[in-house]
Amino acid sequence: MDDLKSDWLGRIGAATDERALEDIRVSAVGKKGEISLKMRELGKMTPEERQVAGPALNALKDEVNSAIAARKRGLADAALDERLKSEWLDVTLPSRPRRQGTIHPVSQVTEEVTAIFADMGFAVAEGPQIETDFYNFDALNIPGHHPARAEMDTFYTHRAQGDNRPPHVLRTHTSPVQIRSMEEHGAPLRIICPGRVYRADYDQTHTPMFHQVEGLVIDRDTSMAQLKWVLEEFYSAFFGVTVKTRFRASHFPFVEPGAEVDIQCSFEGGTVKIGEGDDWLEILGSGMVHPKVLQAGGIDPDEWQGFAFGMGIDRIAMLKYGIPDLRDFFNSDLRWLKHYGFGALEIPSTHAGV
Ligand code: PHE
Repeated sequence: MDDLKSDWLGRIGAATDERALEDIRVSAVGKKGEISLKMRELGKMTPEERQVAGPALNALKDEVNSAIAARKRGLADAALDERLKSEWLDVTLPSRPRRQGTIHPVSQVTEEVTAIFADMGFAVAEGPQIETDFYNFDALNIPGHHPARAEMDTFYTHRAQGDNRPPHVLRTHTSPVQIRSMEEHGAPLRIICPGRVYRADYDQTHTPMFHQVEGLVIDRDTSMAQLKWVLEEFYSAFFGVTVKTRFRASHFPFVEPGAEVDIQCSFEGGTVKIGEGDDWLEILGSGMVHPKVLQAGGIDPDEWQGFAFGMGIDRIAMLKYGIPDLRDFFNSDLRWLKHYGFGALEIPSTHAGV
């Protein structure tokens, strides 16, 4: 009995995996296992022999079973230890640096402009970038033969041969949104329209795609004085200093009278400083909405009058954040974007007091 016991316990102790243990279990206490066969022989024994051998065999069977169970647990624990050792993770290590995107200056400035005008009660309107020549030109009092069409370096879309409809254009300014907004909402109206515009032009201050924001106010008694107040209020909020404006008579077919607006600046030391000095920087086109334009938008010019203005978003972004070359805005150079971009959680700066 002792030999039997030490033999089986020895084999169990030497087993190195669950399969080996299972084989041992079958050949020891399985149906035809050595210990099971020995138990069957109990019947042939004398009652005295049986009284000694019976409990001893039962005890051996129990012992073998629990040795197998214990060894199984031991093997599982060892396997787990091994795994924990190889899959060890130091959760206190600092994480790898992750590249984080930035907000493009055009997006940031569009947000700033929108926030300032929203404080003055302007809503945001949008229109398509591929426009009909009606919205981009005719409705804005720029008829087919008008030189302004040529001046704007318009991109025309292609028409199939034999299709004689006038081609669509990539809008050359945000002014067509004036007409679309008048048609949609009627008067009174107080909107800005930021968005992309296109002209075939390329140098340090021109790119074939750039951004404008249009402003339009229509009411019964709007005036150039209100226009001037709105613009001075806007530029002062945008640049964070009091900004004077200068109005120069100018011509745009969709306004009468029309004015180009300059803002006060200094060019001393080779840098532009807004709101100081006695130089002027041309920044925007504006005027009182032409009666024909109101009519084209379905608004009665005998009852309503309005003022409108349009300026370059990229241009005021360059001035505010000291960005020298417009072309770099659209080169997707990661170093440029990192340098001039804004953090995702940065709140658009608008000067207090508006
Ligand atoms: N649409 C003009 C441009 O792109 C700007 C402008 C807008 C002028 C509104 C007057 C009134 O140059």
